[in-house]
Formats: sequence, C-alpha cells, structure tokens
Amino acid sequence: MARILLACTILAPIAVAQQASFQLTGKTFTLAGIPYFAPPAPVSQFSSDAVNEIVSQLGENNTLDGLSAFSVLPSPEYEFADSHLEAALQTWRTKDDVWSEAFLNGLYIAYNGTHDWPTSLVSPETQTRYAMHFLLHSGNRSVGAALTRELPAGPYLLDLSSGSVFEVYRLYNDEQQSFLYGTIPNPSGGYTILSAKIPGAATESIGVPSRLYFTPTAEKPLAGLRFAVKDIYDVEGLRTGCGNRAYWELYPPRNQTAPAVQRLLDGGLVLVGKTKSSQFANGEVATDDWVDLHAPYNPRGDGYQDGSSSSTGSGTAEAAYPWLDYAIGSDTGGSMRGPAGVNGIFGNRPSHGAVSLDDVMPLSPPLDTAGIFARDANMWATAGHWWYQNFTSYSGFPKKLLFPVDFFGSSFLTDPPPAGTADAIFNAFITKLESFLGITRTEMNLTSLWAENPLFIAHGPLSEMLMTTYPTLITMDQTELVAEPFMADYAAVNNGRKPFIDPAPLTRWTYGWSLPSDAYAEQIANKTTFMNWFASEVVVGGDLTSCSESIFLYPQSSGYTTYRNAYTGPPSTPFGFSAGRIAVFAETPDMVVPVGEVPYNSTITGTTEYLPVTLSFIVAKDCDLVLFDLFAVLQNADIIKPVVTGSRIYDDVPVEE
Ligand SMILES: *[C@@H]1O[C@H](CO)[C@@H](O)[C@H](O)[C@H]1NC(C)=O
Ligand SMILES: *[C@@H]1O[C@H](CO)[C@@H](O)[C@H](O)[C@H]1NC(C)=O
Ligand SMILES: *[C@@H]1O[C@H](CO)[C@@H](O)[C@H](O)[C@H]1NC(C)=O
Ligand SMILES: *[C@@H]1O[C@H](CO)[C@@H](O)[C@H](O)[C@H]1NC(C)=O
Ligand SMILES: *[C@@H]1O[C@H](CO)[C@@H](O)[C@H](O)[C@H]1NC(C)=O
Ligand SMILES: *[C@@H]1O[C@H](CO)[C@@H](O)[C@H](O)[C@H]1NC(C)=O
Ligand SMILES: *[C@@H]1O[C@H](CO)[C@@H](O)[C@H](O)[C@H]1NC(C)=O
Ligand SMILES: *[C@@H]1O[C@H](CO)[C@@H](O)[C@H](O)[C@H]1NC(C)=O
Repeated sequence: MARILLACTILAPIAVAQQASFQLTGKTFTLAGIPYFAPPAPVSQFSSDAVNEIVSQLGENNTLDGLSAFSVLPSPEYEFADSHLEAALQTWRTKDDVWSEAFLNGLYIAYNGTHDWPTSLVSPETQTRYAMHFLLHSGNRSVGAALTRELPAGPYLLDLSSGSVFEVYRLYNDEQQSFLYGTIPNPSGGYTILSAKIPGAATESIGVPSRLYFTPTAEKPLAGLRFAVKDIYDVEGLRTGCGNRAYWELYPPRNQTAPAVQRLLDGGLVLVGKTKSSQFANGEVATDDWVDLHAPYNPRGDGYQDGSSSSTGSGTAEAAYPWLDYAIGSDTGGSMRGPAGVNGIFGNRPSHGAVSLDDVMPLSPPLDTAGIFARDANMWATAGHWWYQNFTSYSGFPKKLLFPVDFFGSSFLTDPPPAGTADAIFNAFITKLESFLGITRTEMNLTSLWAENPLFIAHGPLSEMLMTTYPTLITMDQTELVAEPFMADYAAVNNGRKPFIDPAPLTRWTYGWSLPSDAYAEQIANKTTFMNWFASEVVVGGDLTSCSESIFLYPQSSGYTTYRNAYTGPPSTPFGFSAGRIAVFAETPDMVVPVGEVPYNSTITGTTEYLPVTLSFIVAKDCDLVLFDLFAVLQNADIIKPVVTGSRIYDDVPVEE
C-alpha cells in the first residue's frame, strides 16, 4: 500500500507539468500467452478502500507494473453461490474469445443480494481452483466495493495505483494483409487507429473487444458482433484512402461517419478496422495491378489464389478470420460478388438504392451499391434485415426458378455433369432447391429471349447494345467526381505535380477522358432499356406473395484457379456484357451463396487443394429480403451450409478424399 501511495506522489507533478505533450496511447500486455490491448481511457474506477482491499488480498503476488487482470460478473440474483459463478463461466468459455480463465486472477461480483461485507460469495475451494487472488463484491445495499460506474460482464484490467478499470481487446494478427489498420472508438464519438501491435508480429494487429461487454436488444440486435469496413467509406476520425497512398495523405481525417456505416453501428456492430480496397474500387489483379497497396491474400486452397476485387480486404478477411463476423464492401460491377465467389463466402450486391451512399467514394452513382459479407446465412439475414431497412418482407418464396442455359453452358444440359465438377455441384444443389420450393427449373436463354423480341431488333444483341455501357458510366462518373477534384487538390499543394495512380484506374480514367460528353446519356438510356425489359419480361417484380415472381440463377465461381503470381498483362477497359452485369444494369439484388468446392492440383503446394463453388441469385428490385430469408431457411434445412475460415470452406469434410 505504501508503494502505491509513493507512486502517486511522484507521478502527479510530472503529469501536470507535461499534460499538453504527454499522452498515453493505451497498454499492451500478454496474459497466459495471449496478446491484449487496453485503451487509454478507463471505463470505471474503484474507490481507494476497494483498492486497499485488493492489495491486501493480493499479498506478495502483485501483478506486473501495478496492473492486475480481473473479471466482472453482474448477477441479477438475490442469492449468489459457486453454482452461479460456474454457470456464468460455462457461458463465457463458449461465447467469448477475449476472456480466459487467466482473468479470474480477481473477480468482482455485483449481485442483487444483501449479505454484509465482507461475506465471501465464492468458496475458498473455488477461489483456489481458479487461482483467484482477489474477490470483491457489491450488493443491493451498496455495501462492499462499488465501482463508480457498474460494468457489464467480462475481462478487465485494473491499475492498482489509481483504481482505474480498463476494457481489454484481444489482438489478432492480420496474416492475410486484408486490413489497413485496426480501429478503436475514441472519446469524441469517432474512431482512432489502434496503436497496439502483437509483439514480434510482421503484419498489422487488429483488436477485438470482449463479446461479453455487449448484450443484444431489440434496438441493438447486432450488439457485440464485429465488422470491418472497406476503406472507401468515411468513418469519423479516420482518413479514407481508397487504395491510393497520395489520396490517403492528402485529405485529413473525416469528420463524419457515412450513414451506411452509422446504421450498422447503431445496430450494435463493433467496428474493428478498415480493410484494403483495390484502387478507387476499380478491378485490379494481384500481381500486375496492386502497385500502391499489396493485394490481400485469399485463404482458400493453396492461399495463393487471387482474392478478386475490389472489396478484396473485406472478402479475404471474412474468409480467413473466425474473430470477424461481418465485413462490408461495395459493388459497382462485381466488387462484392467477385470476392464472395473466389473467397467462398456469402456476399451480396443489393438492389440499387438500398442504403445511402453519402460519404462513400463513388465509382458510378447510378450503379454503386453497399454489400455485406458473412459466413452464415442466418447471420447474413439478420444483418440484411437491419441494414436494408426500407424493404418489406413477403409471405412466400418465388414459385419460378429461371435457369439461363447461356450462362450455365450447353454441356451442362446434354451430359449429366461428371461427379466432382462445379456443374455437378450446381446440379445437385438446384435439384434440392427445386424439391424445397416444390417446382422445377425453367430453362431459358437470356441472349435469345432478347434477340427474338422484335422491339429490340434495332439495338442488336445485348452484347452489342451494352458493350460500352459499363465503362462509359464508371469512367465518366469517376473522372468527374473523384479523379479531377483529387488531382486538382493534390496539384494545389504539390507545386502542380500529379499524384501516382495505379495502372488499372488510370487506364479507365484515360478512356473516360476520351469520350464525348453525350456518351453518358446514351449509355444511361441503354441501361434503362435493359432494366425495363428485364423487369417486365425476365424477372418480374410486384408479386404480392413473393415480391419477385421468379429467382434467376447463374454460376458465380466454379473453382477455377487464378494464381496470384501469374502475370496477366496490362489492364484493359471493362467492355462487354456478361451475367455479372445483369444486376448492375437492372438494379436488382445479386446474392452469392457457397454451394460446394472442387479439387485442383496446386502448382504452389504440389498437392490437391480445393476451391469454392458459388451460385448467384437474382430477384426483382427491392426484393432482397426474400432471398436473405430463403437462404436462412435453406441453411436451417441443411441444403446450404455455413462456411468456416481457412483453406477449406466446410469443416466436416474427411481429411482424405
Ligand atoms: C502467491 O502465489 C503462489 C503461487 O501461486 C502461492 O503459492 C502463494 O500462496 C501466493 N501467495 C499469496 C500471499 O497469495
Ligand atoms: C434486483 O432485484 C429486484 C427485485 O428482486 C429487481 O427489481 C431488480 O431489477 C434486480 N436488479 C438487477 C440489477 O437485476
Ligand atoms: C434490493 O432487494 C430488495 C428485496 O430484498 C428489492 O425490493 C429491491 O428492489 C432491491 N433493490 C435494488 C436496487 O435492486
Ligand atoms: C467537415 O469536413 C468538411 C470537409 O472538409 C468541411 O467542409 C466541414 O465544414 C466539416 N464539418 C465540421 C462540422 O467540422
Ligand atoms: C429509408 O427510409 C427512411 C425513413 O423513411 C428514409 O429516411 C431513408 O432515406 C430511406 N433510405 C433509403 C436508402 O432509401
Ligand atoms: C442461347 O442463344 C444464343 C442466341 O440465340 C445462341 O447463340 C446460344 O447458342 C444459345 N445458348 C444455348 C446454350 O443454347
Ligand atoms: C445505345 O442504344 C442506342 C439506342 O437506344 C443505340 O443507338 C446505340 O447504338 C447504343 N449504344 C451502343 C454503344 O451500343
Ligand atoms: C491431379 O493430377 C493427377 C496426376 O496428373 C491427375 O490424375 C488428377 O486428375 C489431377 N486432379 C485434378 C483435380 O486435376
């Protein structure tokens, strides 16, 4: 006790004298071999009486540097006994990855009973079993060692010299290099870059707070679930980098959080970091195009497959890290769906306009959307219902399943697909879906359906009418909305110099600058022609029971290799029409669901590895919730399965096949 008072006497004048320049940035420590971080601001405080009591119980076994780890256990019960402690620990062990028994070094129980201090609520045997060095409690009559502010359950750090209590974050290593940095909330309501690092780690460390601190409620249904945000969304207190170093440097930290992100925070989601975007959310391949940032690593298969773009950081993180529940990205021309496909996770492009994209870097406002990655269909549906709040639910599932032969390929039809191929996986899944919905697939050919419509003869085939639609819209929009203001702002403070731009966005912007000004309106017209046709003749909306009359399927990823160490040549302008462009032009949802995996012989590892096989689902515009609900129900019926992190997407596959 004397030691602690002495410390206070010495420290106080220094703290006053250097207040302006001397700032604590939190503490890092390891406990039982696990790295942790405690943010600089305490969340509560013990009185000096309580601290004296703790110190007397600790005896000679004081912990390092006047710090001690302990757990808080609030209990609504009038009685408290060992059995209440054991019941709580049972939950904590399975629910949380941050708390461990090492935090039972001390225990603070806030219970509802009226035992008089210092009655012990935990038997000496149990205290010995957990190597508990101090035990405090406060009861209904406020006897005992009350905190200045009661705390939720969980692990905490106590500073014995001040009585201050700190939350703890577990630190995880970003071995896939998916993140730019981890984040923690700052006291002014925004976020700050996590200052901590796992000792000896070569990559970023991401901190996650204990799940025990949060309890979901009707107002905050996502409380305690963790998410990461693609670095094109503004978050108060953080810079937005858009995958470009000069852009990151040039603009100050943002002073507001994008409404799309705020909606998720309001639902209780915990922001743990910003993930890498390919530059300005354009398509980039790992080896040739990611010049400013290093491309994140796709964990599937041999770990050296391209992670697709542009929501690469979010997609690879979701596929790799069990401690991350969700990651958000954006989709203009496939930036959610591509990463969902090759990383083998659930990921969606929502209906256009599903959430506000204010304070999000634009690629092309008429095409931009905000999507979310998950590994579990039920969790995906929960987040989707919360985020896309303006869509209504419907009572039944669509009764028509459209199977476009032009996208599945004719070989699929003539031969039963050989076992072990992606086509066989698609076929088996669709057969189960047919039986679940009580219908059979309707084969159709989108290309010929369009070509045979006499109204559209003058437009030529879809591939012709829509050949330049996508590149015209994205390049004319992004040059005007992002490139030109950025280059002007940069030049103004850099003696007229230009910033570095990666080859892929620069190629696209150069195309945009070459176009005549009337090209934009013409391509909006062509997009609209397609959208109206698709909504009236292919996937029809407005159904009172199922919102969308039908579900349109197409293959998203078939387990083909795209090695990240392969040189593919210079970037090109993304001309053309494909299945992936349907939702882009028709403004419909396009949701990617993992349905299996296929083997390949890896040139990296020299052994058999597996890559994900995923399907895309399209329904009518604003019918997203029908699909979210369908996938949840299909998962509950074991027709689709949640995916796990790592090389394989399922954990119940035999080791040898
Ligand atoms: C300190 O810890 C050691 C090892 O756990 C234990 O044997 C000893 O009894 C403790 N001393 C006190 C005063 O708690
Ligand atoms: C304590 O118990 C009373 C009645 O028994 C109850 O009204 C109150 O909500 C309880 N307090 C807590 C914190 O659970
Ligand atoms: C304390 O317990 C009594 C029952 O003994 C209860 O009536 C009262 O509401 C409790 N007070 C609080 C603050 O929980
Ligand atoms: C926020 O930042 C923007 C852009 O720098 C600026 O125009 C605006 O005044 C700032 N708002 C506040 C409240 O500081
Ligand atoms: C959703 O509805 C709310 C309330 O009517 C409205 O304020 C908001 O702008 C809508 N959001 C979108 C993306 O349409
Ligand atoms: C779909 O229709 C197009 C245009 O008529 C045709 O070229 C193509 O072969 C058809 N695809 C299949 C698989 O039948
Ligand atoms: C876009 O559609 C118009 C007709 O609406 C057509 O004249 C024009 O050729 C189309 N543009 C392209 C590039 O195909
Ligand atoms: C892997 O290579 C072996 C030997 O060449 C071949 O028999 C096998 O079919 C290959 N497997 C795959 C999935 O390509």
